[in-house]
Amino acid sequence: MKIEIPLAQANRLINSGNVVLVSSAWQDRRSIITIAWHCPVSFKPPVLAIAVGKTRFSAELIERSGEFVVNIPDWNLVDAMLYCGTRSGRDEDKFAGAKLTPEKAVKLLRAPKIRECIGALECSVIDRVEIGDHYLFFGEVIYAEVEEGLWDNGTWKPETAQLIYHLGGNRFMKPGPVSEVK
Ligand SMILES: Cc1cc2nc3c(=O)[nH]c(=O)nc-3n(C[C@H](O)[C@H](O)[C@H](O)COP(=O)(O)O)c2cc1C
Repeated sequence: MKIEIPLAQANRLINSGNVVLVSSAWQDRRSIITIAWHCPVSFKPPVLAIAVGKTRFSAELIERSGEFVVNIPDWNLVDAMLYCGTRSGRDEDKFAGAKLTPEKAVKLLRAPKIRECIGALECSVIDRVEIGDHYLFFGEVIYAEVEEGLWDNGTWKPETAQLIYHLGGNRFMKPGPVSEVK
């Protein structure tokens, strides 16, 4: 038997991937936003999409600069992830507040990356679509890096990379056993 759920929760049936920290900057302002709504959308060129609420400070910074970095936190950064997801960069510098270290990106000019994260995708905005109360920013990935010991044969190393999966609300999940399906 199936039960009907509120449409406001429907996204949680499909959106249980790892949360990311998206950093951006414009002039002397910068921010880090926790993002659960993200998705790869093209192989060639490599493009990903992030859904950013229209009222978020990060939406302004990404719109003006045309850049963002998708940083991958692990469970060591769970408190920093919650911090960046509950405070606005309009009111404070979240690098200081969340005790994260800004590092110059390899290819981007403005958006800093986060040293403590285990991977980073440097993205240049190629399009922006307005959908309801969010903007969908499409970023071409121009540089990607990962912590060496956590990468194996083209994927995260099974059971070693402690990604933070988001089930919705205040529920998060740790990686479990990995199966290689033949
Ligand atoms: C686990 C989690 C996931 C979130 N996912 C998103 C998201 O996908 N898109 C979004 O716009 N906000 C999301 N948020 C909320 C923003 O991170 C939050 O509003 C943040 O304070 C915005 O910061 P800013 O104003 O500096 O951009 C999420 C928050 C949490 C805790």
